[in-house]
Amino acid sequence: MQEESVTPNTESNSAYLRRCKAAEIRPHPARFPQGFAEFFIKFLTDEGDMVLDPFAGSNTSGFVAQTLQRRWISFEINEDYVMGSRYRFTQ
Ligand SMILES: C[S@@+](CC[C@H](N)C(=O)[O-])C[C@H]1O[C@@H](n2cnc3c(N)ncnc32)[C@H](O)[C@@H]1O
Repeated sequence: MQEESVTPNTESNSAYLRRCKAAEIRPHPARFPQGFAEFFIKFLTDEGDMVLDPFAGSNTSGFVAQTLQRRWISFEINEDYVMGSRYRFTQ
């Protein structure tokens, strides 16, 4: 069986790191692998469903949810991590 992956794991992570560095923002130190979020989002939700992450960090889950055509709401207490997470969604 071959694993299907719709999210380009390393590329979007390296884009996140690159953009954080350019903006002089410290990247989140404990990011989850995108494949981890992808597995559970696909397993537990359908397109159009809402994914909520109350401890979002760099918002891996929100990014993957959006890539998989889910809606998302994320909470993160540390403003620096929120600011950095924006770079997952910008070009
Ligand atoms: C393990 S990290 C999440 C990493 C995330 N899955 C990712 O891939 O970037 C847990 C996060 O929960 C945040 N956190 C801790 N307590 C919180 C709270 N009461 N409300 C919101 N966020 C909180 C921390 O600041 C931390 O960024």
